[in-house]
Amino acid sequence: MLTLSPACFSTMAVLLLAMGITAFAQQNHKQWADYGGGPDSSHFVALDQINKSNVSQLQVAWVYPTEDSHAYLFNPIIVDNIMYVLAKNSSLVALDAATGKEIWIHENLPGLTTRGIAYWESKDRKDRRVIFAINDYLEEIDARTGKSILSFGKQGLVDLRQGLGRDAKTINRIQTDTPGRVFEDLILMGSTPGEAYLSPPGDIRAFNVITGKMVWNFHTVPHPGEVGYETWPKEAYKYVGGSNTWGEITVDVKRGIAYFPTGSPTYDYYGADRIGANLFANCLVALDARTGKRLWHFQMVHHDLWDYDATAAPQLLTVMHEGKAVDVVAESSKQGFLYVFDRVTGKPLWPIEERPVPKSLMPGEQAWPTQPFPTVPPPFARQKITADDVNPYILTPEERVAWKQRIDAMRNEGIFTPPGMTETISMPGARGGSNWGSGAVNPSKGLMYLNTQDWPTIYKLSLEDPLGKRSSDSGAKAIYEARCQMCHGVNGVRSGSGPPALAGIGKRVAFDSFRHTVRSGRGEMPAFGDLDDRAVKQLFEYLNGQEAAVGSAEVAPVKIRGPVVASGGAPGGLKVRPGNAEQYTPLGGPPYASGSETPKVRYYTNWGLYPDQPYVVGPPWSSVVAYDLNAGTIKWKVPLGQDAEAEAEGARDTGAFMAEHHGMIVTATGLIFIAASDGKLRALDEDTGKVLWTATLPAGSEGIPAMYEVGGRQYLVVSASSNLNSGGGHAVSGRAAPTVRPDLPKGYIAFALPGK
Ligand code: HEC
Repeated sequence: MLTLSPACFSTMAVLLLAMGITAFAQQNHKQWADYGGGPDSSHFVALDQINKSNVSQLQVAWVYPTEDSHAYLFNPIIVDNIMYVLAKNSSLVALDAATGKEIWIHENLPGLTTRGIAYWESKDRKDRRVIFAINDYLEEIDARTGKSILSFGKQGLVDLRQGLGRDAKTINRIQTDTPGRVFEDLILMGSTPGEAYLSPPGDIRAFNVITGKMVWNFHTVPHPGEVGYETWPKEAYKYVGGSNTWGEITVDVKRGIAYFPTGSPTYDYYGADRIGANLFANCLVALDARTGKRLWHFQMVHHDLWDYDATAAPQLLTVMHEGKAVDVVAESSKQGFLYVFDRVTGKPLWPIEERPVPKSLMPGEQAWPTQPFPTVPPPFARQKITADDVNPYILTPEERVAWKQRIDAMRNEGIFTPPGMTETISMPGARGGSNWGSGAVNPSKGLMYLNTQDWPTIYKLSLEDPLGKRSSDSGAKAIYEARCQMCHGVNGVRSGSGPPALAGIGKRVAFDSFRHTVRSGRGEMPAFGDLDDRAVKQLFEYLNGQEAAVGSAEVAPVKIRGPVVASGGAPGGLKVRPGNAEQYTPLGGPPYASGSETPKVRYYTNWGLYPDQPYVVGPPWSSVVAYDLNAGTIKWKVPLGQDAEAEAEGARDTGAFMAEHHGMIVTATGLIFIAASDGKLRALDEDTGKVLWTATLPAGSEGIPAMYEVGGRQYLVVSASSNLNSGGGHAVSGRAAPTVRPDLPKGYIAFALPGK
């Protein structure tokens, strides 16, 4: 029985009042009309039909098959009764959100932002647009007709490579896979300029949604005279890149403040050409959403040497702190910390201490002497790995001994151990911790949820570019083995989980499309723009000569039937888009501009344990964590899913492996919905983390689901088109695969309570 003391009661009253005028004023949380649910990225839904007592009755309401072999990590959005999804050879499809029936199909949009799209409408609702990037071009489609809007930009296109202060022709890729964020008549955009030496800069920009005109530009590598310029060498703004928002953007609509998490500066792991703290890389940056003017920032990693990009959506909550309701913004990180700030002033809610960290032993390098450590709340992930933590499952006894010896020999001084010429290790690792899609909040309760994975990273710098031989002359087989095989399998043959098999690729993909994918990358696949035409052609022919594995899921391109209204984006009918630059910056990058004082030697590393040795540490490999930010404590932490192979050895509650990028939904009725790479969708109790309901999906699921109400019925929709036990398409080969529902096709699956 809960009794409220007068003090506690008034506290709640203040809290409720605060909510009424802040969090809830921004969004009604009953619609899912934008990526992540809306501008606050909360994934919170104020619908109450599905609750703890009836959640076990949820059943499949409809399925929309995606029909091809792609893993769609696309967050559906729903406006009125229409749902927008990406499916069928990267076509944008408008569906009846109650039935899954097609309304229109705009086919053939390869390169469209894979994680979702943005939506804008005019005040009178007469003008409705979906906004997205395709291969470095910002474009719009009329949300009602499905046709490209040609009055936007130049013939419907805004070239995102322009306006960055570098020669656009040298920019191979700037598009991020995360959609921009609409605020008033602006679309706020991050970018993915690459992480090689001398990649383009990660300017944060805003464009007018009607004209496509750039309205403001914030330099994340400051130019002379700008705040933060002194945290770099003088010329750095001319050659350093990255420091970009490739993750999620959150807007406090009421205050007009936009929050951007930023990534590492280039090159990720060796910073001799960027001595200094490197603002505004690895920051949470708060900008005036209308002008791009900096309001405050906090740098979570100084002079990053680990690829500790901030990517997860900043989360907005109202918490009770020292007797007052405080509007906060919380940022979760790859390194396992949650950073909490006053949303307006940027002041940390609890002390964040600068503590001394280890020195770099690399020539020319100067690791920053201190790094910020939040004292409260506690970290959500394991931040240390020793020989004792080596996995008791799956590995053979010999492998286990070898790993213990190898870890014992490493430089291992915590998450800020600088990479060197001998191995160093970091935990939860550059692919661990929390990543895009990971966070959610219940704004009324001061509770924040995130999912995290432990996947240690091993670094070792050397003079050799780990992306393999850069020479195109080494022959197709050698290039394939050095640069593609780790993901696409031996000889392009891959059965079971993982990225698509490439054997016999010519039967379903035209050379132009193959070349485009290889040069520009796709989804989680990196770009290989340094491979010249001849090398790409040789690769194509080599792969064509390979026989597909017997029984492998080799599929022909989908024949699109249904209400096709347009093809190929803007300008209409253009088959080969004005493609990305022919030149590309390999990891090594071009020389520095003459006269700049820059190092002579470049070092490289890759994330170790990638992707073949993910099992070095014991479970849990992934977890869901609930924070109570009124108290600054972890309320509960539970493993997310079950690993089939470890289960066969008797392990329980291991968490599924490669569990990044599983967005969750939080409901006002105290439920959390989250899918995992074990092919299961679960509902957890918000109070305890206990699993209340499980559904088996026809495939793995990645990205963010959506929840909405149409015609008095509440629906949950989730994309189930990914490989199992894989994250971002990176497969673990030869694993025991979990079971799926063979009776359902891969696609978007909508759940609801029985016929209402
Ligand atoms: C880090 C893993 C990784 C590496 C390395 C990689 N790929 Fe990929 N590749 C992927 C993933 C994941 C996809 C699926 C992307 C999607 O559809 O979102 C993909 C898709 C493709 C496709 C499209 C296939 C289709 O069916 O449409 C082609 C072609 C391709 N890769 C070629 C290559 C080549 C050639 C190389 C080496 C030069 C390479 N990839 C290296 C992960 C990788």
